[in-house]
Amino acid sequence: MTDTSTQTPLLQIRDLSVRFRTDRGHVHAVNGVSYDLMPNETLCIVGESGSGKSVHALSILRLLPEPPAEITSGRIHFDGRELLTASRQTMFDLRGNGIGMVFQNPMSSLNPVLTIGRQITEVLRRHMKMDGRAAHVRAVELLDRVRIPDAASRIHSYPHEFSGGQRQRIMIAIAIACNPRLLIADEATTALDVTTQAEIIQLVRELKDEKSMAVIWITHDLGVVAGIADTVQVMYAGAIVERGPVDAIFNDPRSAYTFGLLNSLPDVSDVHGARTRLRQIDGMPPDLHALPAGDPFAPRNPYATERCFLERPPLRQAEDAEPGHLVAAWYDLRKVTRREAVG
Ligand SMILES: Nc1ncnc2c1ncn2[C@@H]1O[C@H](COP(=O)(O)OP(=O)(O)OP(=O)(O)O)[C@@H](O)[C@H]1O
Ligand SMILES: [Mg+2]
Repeated sequence: MTDTSTQTPLLQIRDLSVRFRTDRGHVHAVNGVSYDLMPNETLCIVGESGSGKSVHALSILRLLPEPPAEITSGRIHFDGRELLTASRQTMFDLRGNGIGMVFQNPMSSLNPVLTIGRQITEVLRRHMKMDGRAAHVRAVELLDRVRIPDAASRIHSYPHEFSGGQRQRIMIAIAIACNPRLLIADEATTALDVTTQAEIIQLVRELKDEKSMAVIWITHDLGVVAGIADTVQVMYAGAIVERGPVDAIFNDPRSAYTFGLLNSLPDVSDVHGARTRLRQIDGMPPDLHALPAGDPFAPRNPYATERCFLERPPLRQAEDAEPGHLVAAWYDLRKVTRREAVG
């Protein structure tokens, strides 16, 4: 990966492949994903439903049910440790205090029969070895920090007594309780209304700076991406098809797939404020049971060349592009589109 920084990556993923055993054979969900994430970097991962975003994230956390999941190749190096060969105990510790996570549905992550105070203090006691009193004080601070009003008394409430946005804030409080170096948010604001979503994104931006965390933010929402990403990674059929600095991806996309996603934006220059969903691109994603030999996007790509159908393009530095702007494509998008639709 071309990163000119002299810093050591916080996370290094190399050639990660994951498949699921099913009645119809193997579903090839993640296919040769490699990238680096630097400390304090915010990486947004976008792509259509089924492109392997969540499976890739769950692999980092070793939260996939194995079986039916099987990690068939790869290395995941995080903060000096190899995760794919790590012990259960190491992964348990790491999920407590190395990597925080927030998912789409907080109700399924929070325990409905325990007060939220109990749930936060348990994490602090277990992973930070705090005693009950210290954990309680810290839990109130955390709730206050994620802007739960009247935290000192609300700490005794149960999950159902909070709104959806508040529950997501509570999940964030739990995720950051032990000062993780990486926060993974998978569709964390998808179920929320626009205002609440904007507030939560603002909160995560502040926390990222305060705590010097790296963030992996998985979303369908390009408006969110424009607002928070340093780097954008576009996935298709379990692989990275384009990756680069956020401005490069928005202003100078090189993959026809990225171009298709961006083409739907009402006004790219105003994307910071807009709530913009990925549009439907004509055609269907490939059958992950039997991936084609060539570029999996070729059948849907109006710019595909013969080579696209025969040979899979590697992810490599895009021509005349910013360093670290990588694309997997045999065609040169600039020549075929003249950027008319995103200019
Ligand atoms: N337990 C499972 N058994 C079989 N296939 C699975 C399983 N979990 C995920 N898959 C398949 O793996 C592929 C990638 O799924 P993944 O959840 O990573 O997609 P995604 O990009 O997160 O999509 P979305 O945007 O809808 O969340 C999909 O084809 C999915 O059907
Ligand atoms: Mg997902």
